[in-house]
Amino acid sequence: MTDSQVTTFYEQVGGHETFAALVHEFYRGVANDPVLKAMYPEEDLGPAEQRLLMFLEQYWGGPTTYSETRGHPRLRMRHVPYKVNPDARDRWLGHMRAALDAIDIAPIHEATLWDYLVRAAHALVNTFDD
Ligand code: HEM
Repeated sequence: MTDSQVTTFYEQVGGHETFAALVHEFYRGVANDPVLKAMYPEEDLGPAEQRLLMFLEQYWGGPTTYSETRGHPRLRMRHVPYKVNPDARDRWLGHMRAALDAIDIAPIHEATLWDYLVRAAHALVNTFDD
C-alpha cells in the first residue's frame, strides 16, 4: 500500500457528514433529557454540539479545527465543573447509542466508535455522588 492509499478512520466512515449526523442525533437526545440538559451552561446546545463535533472529527483523523480554536482537549479537566456521575455517564452513553443506531454507518465502524465512546465516558466520571 502506498501512502496515497492510506485513509483515516474519519474518511472511512464517511467524513464530516457522518460525524455531523452522529453528534446532531446525540444532542437531540440531550435536549430531551432533563438531567443532562440542566448541566449545559448555555440554553442553546448548538455551540456545544459544534465543540463535540470538532473534537470527534479531530480525534479520528479529520480536520484539526478543535485544537486550533479550543487548544489542547484536556477532557477530564474540562468536565470538572460538571457532575459526571454514573447516572450522567449512562444517560450520555444512552443518547450516543441511540444516535449510532440512527445514522448510516457500517457495523465494523459502529463497533469501533462505540468501544471508544464507552471507554471515554467511563474515564470522565468524576464523582459517585447523586
Ligand atoms: C460521561 C458523560 C458526559 C457528560 C455528562 C458530559 C457533559 C458535558 C458538558 C455539560 C459539557 C459542557 C458543554 C459545552 O459547553 O461544551 C461538555 C463538554 C464537552 N464534552 Fe462532555 N460529557 C460527557 C462525556 C464526554 C465524552 C465521552 C466526550 C468525548 C468522547 C466528551 C467530549 C466533550 C467535549 C469535546 C466538550 C467541549 C470541551 C470544550 O472545548 O470546552 N464528553 N461535556
